[in-house]
Amino acid sequence: MADSVQISSNGKTYSYPVVTGTENERGIDISRLRSDTGMITLDPGYGNTGSCKSAITYIDGDKGILRYRGIPIEEFEREPDFIEVAWMLIFGRLPNSTERERFGNRLTANAHLHESMKHTFEGFPTNAPPMAITSAMINTLGCFHSEFYSLTDEMQLEEVAARLISKIRTIAAFTYRRVNGLPYIYPDDKLRYCANMLHMMFSKPYEQYIADTEIEDALNLIFILHADHEQNCSTSTVRMVGSSKANLFASISAGVCALWGPLHGGANAEVLGMLEKIHDGGLTAEKYIELAKQKDSNVRLMGFGHRVYKHYDPRAKMLQKTCETVLKKLNRQDPLLDIARKLEELALADDYFVSRKLYPNVDFYSGIILRAIGIPINMFTVMFVIGRLPGWIAHWKEQHDDPTAKIARPRQIYTGPVNRHYVPINQR
Ligand code: SDX
Repeated sequence: MADSVQISSNGKTYSYPVVTGTENERGIDISRLRSDTGMITLDPGYGNTGSCKSAITYIDGDKGILRYRGIPIEEFEREPDFIEVAWMLIFGRLPNSTERERFGNRLTANAHLHESMKHTFEGFPTNAPPMAITSAMINTLGCFHSEFYSLTDEMQLEEVAARLISKIRTIAAFTYRRVNGLPYIYPDDKLRYCANMLHMMFSKPYEQYIADTEIEDALNLIFILHADHEQNCSTSTVRMVGSSKANLFASISAGVCALWGPLHGGANAEVLGMLEKIHDGGLTAEKYIELAKQKDSNVRLMGFGHRVYKHYDPRAKMLQKTCETVLKKLNRQDPLLDIARKLEELALADDYFVSRKLYPNVDFYSGIILRAIGIPINMFTVMFVIGRLPGWIAHWKEQHDDPTAKIARPRQIYTGPVNRHYVPINQR
């Protein structure tokens, strides 16, 4: 007999089916709850609420498991190929060699931006936050590719995905150049994905920046580890906006804005700010940990804790290893890494963190690697955008292709004034 739960209200009992996923996660389908009982559920932050069924990413927060289309993320570490993972997230399986080559060629052919877009960059003040520029430039990009405002077939989706994934690097690099008052460096079609981005960011008009293979691999892995994370805040935003049938550019631009927040994608930059504050002698690691435990201090141990992981974020473990590889390759000691390790050691031995199941998350080590590569703190979350873009596209497509999908429209419990009347201003 199909699994179900019963809810009783006002002497009546209602039965609701239980939906079981392929990893045996179970959810109560309450689609009929309001029409049956007149009641809704209330779950601020949606910690107990599933918004959809999805076949893209699986997380087991208690066991620290993260799988993309069923493949554990650890299996992408040996030969990290961000573009292959991007295609897999969007289309549901690893690409064969023909598909991988075709997608790669589409990316190479689409690295340039329309020359007119340079005027948009010039319209931003040099102190503009890079995330503000990035979200604006994605909608600007859509204006130059409006033939993709409505998508009808897989090849069209593959083309627009390639254009977005390729051009987001150029947008990021041009943003970096704009805020630093540097001339724009155009993409070099001979370079692979990550090397091309570093070239556009760091080359000089008279001297090309050549990325070490290990640095390229590190950046590929960072982008892979950020590529998707099921219904996180920014991905849910992309789905929410896409549910109104808004185009892919508008939906992605909204996702960028959600990711900007310091509790979400902005945390990687906050971690570096925290480490630098300790390093500059303002605070010791021990003192910072004590502050993070005090409710009224308004201080959190950034890069620690997670809505889903109540154990080690598997991405943090992999990024800690990459940290050491990159610093060794660059023959660099980074005192901030030592401070990060000290904070982790103190926190994992402190009941405040252990009892609340607060462990390092993806943001705790990523910033140290980005800084070692030479990427400034104000560009960290833009790097997160580049990584997360395939996941956003995959979720937008999954919802777009679902014939049962509806516009997202949560309900509320009203707590405002009841039955008041308008009073003319001379009587107030
Ligand atoms: C990302 O959702 C995703 O998948 C996101 C992400 C992705 O890939 O998309 O994984 C990327 O956003 C990672 C998270 C990056 N954010 C940070 O590192 C910011 C610091 N972390 C926190 O602010 C916090 O842990 C959250 C926001 C990540 C999660 O918050 P929760 O689950 O809502 O936890 P909570 O706020 O309910 O806190 C539970 C308790 C509270 O204490 P009590 O009220 O029980 O006494 O834990 C405390 C909190 O004060 N707490 C922390 C803490 N995180 C939670 N205390 C100190 N430092 C922290 N970092």
